[in-house]
Amino acid sequence: MKIAILPGDGIGPEIVAQAVKVLKALDEHFEMEFAPVGGAGYEASGHPLPDATLKLALDADAVLFGAVGDWKYDTLDRALRPEQAILGLRQQLGLFANLRPAILYPELAGASTLKPEVVSGLDILIVRELTGDIYFGKPRGVRICPDGPFAGQQEGFDTMRYAEGEVRRIAHVAFQAAQKRQKRLTSVDKANVLETFQFWKTIMTDVHKEYPDVALDHMYVDNAAMQLVRAPKKFDVVVTGNMFGDILSDAAAMLTGSIGMLPSASLDANNKGLYEPSHGSAPDIAGKGIANPLATILSAAMMLRYSLKKEAQADRIEAAVKSVLAQGLRTPDIAEASSIKVGTDEMGDAVVKALA
Ligand code: IPM
Ligand code: MG
Repeated sequence: MKIAILPGDGIGPEIVAQAVKVLKALDEHFEMEFAPVGGAGYEASGHPLPDATLKLALDADAVLFGAVGDWKYDTLDRALRPEQAILGLRQQLGLFANLRPAILYPELAGASTLKPEVVSGLDILIVRELTGDIYFGKPRGVRICPDGPFAGQQEGFDTMRYAEGEVRRIAHVAFQAAQKRQKRLTSVDKANVLETFQFWKTIMTDVHKEYPDVALDHMYVDNAAMQLVRAPKKFDVVVTGNMFGDILSDAAAMLTGSIGMLPSASLDANNKGLYEPSHGSAPDIAGKGIANPLATILSAAMMLRYSLKKEAQADRIEAAVKSVLAQGLRTPDIAEASSIKVGTDEMGDAVVKALA
């Protein structure tokens, strides 16, 4: 089995190195091939998603991705900015289903900015559609405004759209995920204002007929944002579009107080996937050896589970992560006064040791 390893920018290389160390410590043989992406891709060959990197990702059985982005690329043309690498991979690989779990580990209950009773035991899953919506809708651009009070001026515009098949396939992923959990699904929309999301709601309701064992409810996105911070434990699985999912998943991640802990999977129709931590490239702490590698290590576990069908190895990694937390080991982002403070490398080593 071949894994494409794309470390990227900022803390990406440091945290991916820990996940690679953990994968190598398993009694399995994986072929791992590295390639530059994001700012590193731009430096290497003038494009954030170099052809060779894309080809490697297309050929591999799974992709382990670090993070992309650095302020120093902020002035580049949009098409050359590091973010285009991840957007391009999602589109080119057809990774339409993004699974973002937000789990509060009991050991980290104090890390949340919310009251412990509001978040303790939190375990929700956000299913974000990842290749449609206003992120990819065409037409888009800057043009001369054709009508209205600002006619004749320049205007920026994007297009929000969802085709029936796009909504149906993410609905199936979400209902099936809910079936494996508490059988509750909340579809988040803005059907009171947007045609796209009135349509989304209609299709979700229709697909629900195939999953009578799952309870479906619908929530407007503004209310969903409020409920996420008011009573997050009321949610089980949340399904939503690309844009709303981007925003809600950051909010959900912060409930756990430790975005450095959260993995994610982006899957195609055959469960081939790209796995990345939910956090970004954190250029402010890059190279300091203090970044939390656990989200990336847990992303590798998701990769073993979903794409490589090595469930037992995935369980082992997750158990090892729980064990290092129980030992009190913490990188600075999740540290409390009583913790044993460790750096990126030491945390990776501790997980390897705990695998045994
Ligand atoms: C995410 C990120 C990306 C997104 C950016 C980096 C393009 O915020 O994965 O949530 O908006 O999807
Ligand atoms: Mg985001």
